[in-house]
Amino acid sequence: MKTEFVKFSVADGIEKYTDAANLLKDNMVVGMPTETVYGLAGNAYSDEAVKRIFEAKGRPQDNPLIVHISEFSEIYELVSEVPEKAKKLADAFWPGPLTIILPKSDKVPLLVTAGLDTVAVRCPSHPIARNLIKASGVPLAAPSANLSGKPSPTKAEHVFDDLKGRIPYIIDGGECDEGVESTVVTLATPVPKLLRPGNVTLSELKKVLGEIVVDDAVLNPLKKGEKVSSPGMKYKHYSPVAEIVLVRGDYRDFVKYVNGYKGEKVYAMIFDNEGENLDVPYIKYGIDNYKNLSHALFDSLRELDKIGAEICFVRYPDENNDDNLAVLNRLLRAAGFKVIDV
Ligand code: TXA
Ligand code: MG
Repeated sequence: MKTEFVKFSVADGIEKYTDAANLLKDNMVVGMPTETVYGLAGNAYSDEAVKRIFEAKGRPQDNPLIVHISEFSEIYELVSEVPEKAKKLADAFWPGPLTIILPKSDKVPLLVTAGLDTVAVRCPSHPIARNLIKASGVPLAAPSANLSGKPSPTKAEHVFDDLKGRIPYIIDGGECDEGVESTVVTLATPVPKLLRPGNVTLSELKKVLGEIVVDDAVLNPLKKGEKVSSPGMKYKHYSPVAEIVLVRGDYRDFVKYVNGYKGEKVYAMIFDNEGENLDVPYIKYGIDNYKNLSHALFDSLRELDKIGAEICFVRYPDENNDDNLAVLNRLLRAAGFKVIDV
């Protein structure tokens, strides 16, 4: 299949969206930018489109998709009831990087929710994503537009690298602002629960909800046989080909450890203001502050593969800073929970 790669700007009028919207109406899939990461979008009401999404990504069938809407009011078609807490969350964070899970309506196909009786809904803030939803006239199911298991795409080129020849159309809307996927919160439990941290932080959620618990799987590996709240947590994730090892400690001890490591194609991922005395090549991934770290995280992980790194030692973000939860969660998964204390 030929993959069209088309540059869009937020200033483009609705006629620019005709080709992509027509593909979506034909139950084809389209790569689209959002403020978090690129998504692989298809008509959420069409089993044919949803099957294509799973196939193109090579995604396990038991991992449900997020349904994207362009206005809050569109949620009423997707869920069986909109509780007060959902309205409060939407008021505070929509449009934006928050996904809310609620009991699904009959209209949502079970293929989208992987057989669950709940559905994940998000209203993205990216103007191109919202225009595309409007132009297609339906809610769009969209997982991150990477091959299953790879780091999520934060540039259109990442989508092209992973999915060329497998999907007909990619919208290039430039680099994503946030760089990590949305925060996922379920309201389908007696107490709201954080299933996946993102750049809507735990403390921000607490301010709006009062009470919220954090799913064990956010920072811990699953125990054998443990039931997951969010199927996505089961899988090895965000993994470049290079082996990722997190190194916890201060910069001087990091340098000592990495310089003393004997191996081929050894790289380091460090913070912006560092690099002194380090004997191996490195990539800088931001200052130790959440927005900055998340913005370039996945691009840095993909870069490691391009340069042919075999192993990469990564500086451990400050775990006492709640704002770092999203980056820490992704890094721990990329590293298969391998952490070395120095
Ligand atoms: O920022 C984002 O959320 C991006 C952009 C494209 O919007 N999308 C994204 O989708 O990250 P995906 O499919 O890569 O991740 C969705 C996560 C998975 O971990 C999945 O298991 C979980 O949300 N999820 C979806 N529906 C769920 C449900 N009904 N119950 C529990 N978890 C659910
Ligand atoms: Mg994903």
